[in-house]
Amino acid sequence: MNTKPDLKAKNEPETILECRNVTKSVNTASNKTDEKSLTILKAIDMQVKSGESIAIIGASGSGKTTLLSLLAGLDLPSSGEIYLKGLALHQFDEEQRSKVRADHVGFIFQSFLLINSLTALENVMLPAELANDDNAKLKAMTMLEKVGLSDRVEHYPSQLSGGEQQRVAIARAFISNPDILFADEPTGNLDSKTGETITELLFQLNQQQGTTLVLVTHDTKLAVRCQKQLTMDAGEFIQPSGAALEQLTINSVKAG
Ligand SMILES: Nc1ncnc2c1ncn2[C@@H]1O[C@H](COP(=O)(O)OP(=O)(O)O)[C@@H](O)[C@H]1O
Ligand SMILES: [Mg+2]
Repeated sequence: MNTKPDLKAKNEPETILECRNVTKSVNTASNKTDEKSLTILKAIDMQVKSGESIAIIGASGSGKTTLLSLLAGLDLPSSGEIYLKGLALHQFDEEQRSKVRADHVGFIFQSFLLINSLTALENVMLPAELANDDNAKLKAMTMLEKVGLSDRVEHYPSQLSGGEQQRVAIARAFISNPDILFADEPTGNLDSKTGETITELLFQLNQQQGTTLVLVTHDTKLAVRCQKQLTMDAGEFIQPSGAALEQLTINSVKAG
């Protein structure tokens, strides 16, 4: 059934990401010939609309990072379907997924993952250079200016604070103007004030560039800024407890 014309008529945003019955299991046997399967994700269904912001919350070990890496095309599910911009990621090999990532996806990790031998400018330029963009340097300078690091472009990661490194990582994630940005605990390694600055920056870029945001976070201040909150527990989405909901409500009132 083709529902597109109806959706357009109602002016609803399109679905940018869809997950149907996605599972992930890994073999945890120490010996290659043995089979010992651990189920990390049970049966994930989710839909994300273009421009939406979604927070995935849940205890450590509940499967959040694993899910994010599947959604971003960094890894393959054991079963189920994942569509990003209508592209069937679950059927793509690494090379095809790498192209989808370069064209559509930005990713920010908790531990920044900058390349230590490259300056801030070179780190930010890298994705654009890999895409053979002639304007890589100019775009990187513009992005570093947006994150407030114009005066640090020649500095190496070791010369920057945690918050500054995360800002470089954000500039790098946004340089290719991704349709969707995945961030895994982007404020997790930062003090609360720096965390707030990073949160502001993410939503500013989300609004300026229309980027869809899917964030994994323990930070309720960041979670309440998102339009939707999804709670994971033991590899599946659950209805959050009354206490958890109350905490989010209190924070959302505080955040205005
Ligand atoms: N490659 C792997 N091999 C074995 N276990 C894994 C692997 N990846 C993740 N796990 C396990 O799966 C569970 C979920 O991990 P993860 O997705 O990192 O959770 P979260 O991000 O919510 O803390 C954890 O128990 C973790 O130890
Ligand atoms: Mg994690």
